[in-house]
Amino acid sequence: MKKVLLVLASLLCFSTFTTRGETNATKSFTISDLRVEYLKNPIGIDVAAPRFSWKMESDRRGISQTGYQIIVSTDKQGKNIVWDSEKTASDLSVHIIYKGIALQPSTRYYWKVNVWDNDGNKKTSRETAFFETGLMNSGWNGAKWIKCNDTDAPENESQTDGIPMFRTECMLDKEIKSARIYSSALGVYDLFINGNRVGNTNADGKLCFDELKPGWTNYSKTVFYNTYDITSFLSKGNNAIAALVSSGWWAGHVAHGEYGSPALGFIAKLYIVYKDGTTETIVTHPESWKTSREGAIRMADIYTGEDYDARRESEWKKVGFDDSNWHKPTENKDFKGTIKAFIGPNVQVRKELEQTPVSITKYNGHTPDEKGYGMVNVIEERKGTDRLTLDKGDTAVYDLGQNMVGWVKFKVKGNAGTRLTIRFAESLNDDGSFARVNDGPGGSLYRIILRSAAATLSYTLKGDKDGEEFRPTMTFFGFRYCDVVTTEQVEIESMKGEVVGTVAEEGSSFTTSHARVNQLYKNIMWGQRGNFLSVPTDCPQRDERLGWTGDILAFGRAATYNADLAGFFHKWMGDVRDGQREDGAYYDLAPRVWGNEVGNAAWAEAGIVIPWTTYLMYGDRGILEENYASMERFMEQRSTQVFDGYKYNGGGITHGDWLSPEGNEPDKKRYIAVCFYAYSARLMEKMSQALSRKAGDAYDSKAKSYKELYENIKAEFQARYVNPDGSLKQKGQTAYLLALKLHLFPDEKAQSDGIRYLNHLIKTNGDRLGTGFVGTAIINQTLTDAGSIHTAYNLLLQRNNPSWLYSVDQGATTIWERWDGYTKEKGFHPATTMNSFNHYAYGAVSEWMYRYMAGINPDENNPGFKHIILTPYPDNRISFPAGQERITSVDATYHSYYGKIRSAWKSDANGNMEYRIVIPANTTASVTLPKERNQNEIAENNVPLDKAKGVVSYSIEEQHIHIELQSGSYVFTVKE
Ligand code: BGC
Repeated sequence: MKKVLLVLASLLCFSTFTTRGETNATKSFTISDLRVEYLKNPIGIDVAAPRFSWKMESDRRGISQTGYQIIVSTDKQGKNIVWDSEKTASDLSVHIIYKGIALQPSTRYYWKVNVWDNDGNKKTSRETAFFETGLMNSGWNGAKWIKCNDTDAPENESQTDGIPMFRTECMLDKEIKSARIYSSALGVYDLFINGNRVGNTNADGKLCFDELKPGWTNYSKTVFYNTYDITSFLSKGNNAIAALVSSGWWAGHVAHGEYGSPALGFIAKLYIVYKDGTTETIVTHPESWKTSREGAIRMADIYTGEDYDARRESEWKKVGFDDSNWHKPTENKDFKGTIKAFIGPNVQVRKELEQTPVSITKYNGHTPDEKGYGMVNVIEERKGTDRLTLDKGDTAVYDLGQNMVGWVKFKVKGNAGTRLTIRFAESLNDDGSFARVNDGPGGSLYRIILRSAAATLSYTLKGDKDGEEFRPTMTFFGFRYCDVVTTEQVEIESMKGEVVGTVAEEGSSFTTSHARVNQLYKNIMWGQRGNFLSVPTDCPQRDERLGWTGDILAFGRAATYNADLAGFFHKWMGDVRDGQREDGAYYDLAPRVWGNEVGNAAWAEAGIVIPWTTYLMYGDRGILEENYASMERFMEQRSTQVFDGYKYNGGGITHGDWLSPEGNEPDKKRYIAVCFYAYSARLMEKMSQALSRKAGDAYDSKAKSYKELYENIKAEFQARYVNPDGSLKQKGQTAYLLALKLHLFPDEKAQSDGIRYLNHLIKTNGDRLGTGFVGTAIINQTLTDAGSIHTAYNLLLQRNNPSWLYSVDQGATTIWERWDGYTKEKGFHPATTMNSFNHYAYGAVSEWMYRYMAGINPDENNPGFKHIILTPYPDNRISFPAGQERITSVDATYHSYYGKIRSAWKSDANGNMEYRIVIPANTTASVTLPKERNQNEIAENNVPLDKAKGVVSYSIEEQHIHIELQSGSYVFTVKE
């Protein structure tokens, strides 16, 4: 019952706020974080009408934008204007579309924005913000893909004896004003000018290198080119341009033969503007370049690793190198698709995440015992250092303390010709026994689960007296441990773990009063970092590392809370579309490799779910427009699946509720397929509505037909799967979850019986999960929406198998493919071919952590967190399963495109609650806080709600308090 309803009309007159202790300084606002196409100062974008975003920052309550003016010019001073939006009345500051004169290729444009607030104050952005176009339609000026035509080279490029190198020298006889290189490879490439590795300068002024470029795309359709500002790399006179290409995702084992056995290739165009205004273009061409395989990298492959012989290093990247015994390349005609501008964000070494060993163990051989391999013979154990003397015959095991993805960077001293071999693994064998599924003696690397991925680095020393430093550049490993053996004594001076992955800004944080839950969140973050490398992958270590769509369908929403993925998903949807089969089905992998798994339920629908998620989280209408036609084709394919007397069968049933402990028989899989068809229809309805500009337009009528489709699927679902008493014919947790989430029950009674039955299933399963990929991804969210928040907390805090904290208790530092991939009790899981220790899907629970524990939600009707729905669900369980404790505090921040949102709560022993809430400038929030019947003392910062600034209106009900809030920081207390 409502006790009070106040609409504080006076507070809408914002200027009155300044009288309440606010100074002029706090009154002001700043404009920050200027972005174009999701990125800060991007170089080489080929978008005809790029989109602009910025943030308004202020600690003043109730501040909002009333207008903006974007000015784009070709000069820093803003004189040569190509677009002046003029003052536009709008409160939007995300994805504002360029509407100026046609952008020119290879041109840098500067931009600034004026913003007016609701007090009439005007501010101008201060950052030097720019974007630079790529080649657009200006073409490649005759640049050819070149390949190393060395006839001795074996067919399989991933096993070559030396990877191709390409070089040319060019005389630039005038002073250079600016220069760019546009370059790409069929394979993974690295680029050098006059001996220096090419990279771009970041906003902080530091040179930054892209790794594993140009990244992974569907090469039957698309390869990216990169753009680098090479002005400072070139000088008047002779210059050397050099590139290395390895098999990468194009021809390496990871391509699984998708493109046959294609040759590696390189293409580049240099565009130089001289100070006198003239220009020059230099391109790759068989006649003007040279190639050889006689360099230091003898072998490189993503699965296999890298073999580097430092004795073969030479001055080939520099001017004056004698390349007379190099060959002329030939033209590579193996690529039939389109070269497109790279779409960010880049893959880079993430310096802030560098890992140092927590221990080094040196052993020599092992002593078998009656149980199996026995244990390694430990010679020495060291902690707190990464330095070591290693003798021939001994093995050093480095423990980096964290399962991570990237490679090691090391410094070593020894004689020329000494060969170091470094292998990688996620775990160590424990006691070496066969019974515990060890693959070697206790203390050695456990590598059977890598399957055919050799994951090995070899380095042959050149014998530098000062030591030699090395890191690979053409491969990556998923590992926590590495072991090192040597052919002669060496001093290993340092060994660091460098984290390599897509740079997704991690502006969010999540901490609770529960140490194990905090560790779980940390593990989820590491799972995300490791598996977001150019594309979202299933795992980063074994011979997969593939873009399985079901995994990101499960984890995608959670991932968008953990980091900024707008650009990453925009790029990846290109891979999904490129792989779309002629009949409209999406592949189960994007980019498409690995044979013929296509159109399967709960995998292929990622092509529908990811655009919707990106729209919701980032307000990105563009991603809906870009993918709409493709999504419609997908829905058409689904409509053809008429068989077994049913019209609405949904997709294929290869995967079902993958790895479900409740089993995964064909009937259950078909049930899941039907539910996902209903899910797609609902999302298509919502996306059509989002695109509709006015009632009756084309999108509006599409929305209506998708609604009708959903209703039809629902009707057939009920006839097929619902018993006369309203219960489901499918009995498991996942079946009930899907029916609840998608509102497929015939009536409210059946639905509430369903909720009761689901709770019963979980209770009789010992408060444990009975779900695989599909069910686990939605279980806590669905339970909470259905009013069973206590069950959700019981599941989160469960310590027995299967549960999230079970893996944490077994020592996990990432999310595992199997809850019991390793157990202290039984050792490794016997399914050694499917046991990854870095598989993010089950990390989907972090979606629930942000959306329900902390309560941070976007508003479907005003997405991108322009309006925030804030509904925290504190842990107010009165009783809970033995061994569990109540969570007494949560503190979550989420970095939205409008700014940082915070939702923190803590409870005291009497159940009194304190909520700290931050709503970014230029946004509003609808807050719902829980309240016990006797809790009637409700205040903001010790002020009653009707007097609190920024509280537009509120209502107090028996069990809830609803508050409409303007931007600002608030502290609410709810007490007896
Ligand atoms: C992957 C999964 C993937 C599945 C498809 C596995 O090998 O690692 O995560 O989604 O295949 O069923």
